[in-house]
Amino acid sequence: PLRSDLAGLRVAVSTGGTREPIDPVRFLGNRSSGRQGAALAVSAAERGAAVTLVAAHVDDGVLDDALSHPGVALVRVSSAADLHAAMTDAAASADVVAMVAAVADFRVAEVSQGKLRKEDGVPELRLVPNPDILADLAASRGSGPARQTVVGFAAETASDDDELLERGRRKAARKGADLLVVNRVDWDRGFEAVENRVLILAADGTLVADAAGTKRAVADAVWDAVVASRP
Ligand code: C5P
Repeated sequence: PLRSDLAGLRVAVSTGGTREPIDPVRFLGNRSSGRQGAALAVSAAERGAAVTLVAAHVDDGVLDDALSHPGVALVRVSSAADLHAAMTDAAASADVVAMVAAVADFRVAEVSQGKLRKEDGVPELRLVPNPDILADLAASRGSGPARQTVVGFAAETASDDDELLERGRRKAARKGADLLVVNRVDWDRGFEAVENRVLILAADGTLVADAAGTKRAVADAVWDAVVASRP
């Protein structure tokens, strides 16, 4: 069905996995495919929003639909620091911000300007924490009647739904987002997969929706929750 319930809204979505450089040729990365964030961007554009999609590293072809949609403007980034800057920029004029990217929690303290060589011995990589971009965007937004809606995602390992909910509730409180989309991941679940199942929590931990299906179906459920949450 054709909905235009996001018409007139500007949304900023991040997706993909960041790469934290070690030296000119190496990085610390993660397995995020970028599919869920790309689906969120395309879904929002089809529902009438003007979308900025900030994409870190994604699997081949994942951005094809977003690239061919006139409602999506694509910004490419690599590290968490790049993503932070691009999302802060996009968020400044956004009604809704969704942090779907898998942001590295740590970066290498001293990036080597030259390639690390075996001959120099086993390197000791010292890591330092990256800022939490979601918490930062949630904390620094303006208030007022047209308050920005901030959506976070959380991939959690859990032995059952109760544990998943509990972890999600704690994270929702910690991040300060309006909605937290929690999905269960495992070695063979969540990442890189086409299907997904998520629990959508409100800031106070209330379960707003339980959605399953393709990443596109999950994206639609997230926008339904965003629409329902806005005054
Ligand atoms: O704490 P955790 O990494 O599980 O939180 C996931 C959520 O926080 C996602 O929305 C992710 O985009 C965001 N995040 C962030 N900056 C970080 C780490 C995670 O914005 N440094």
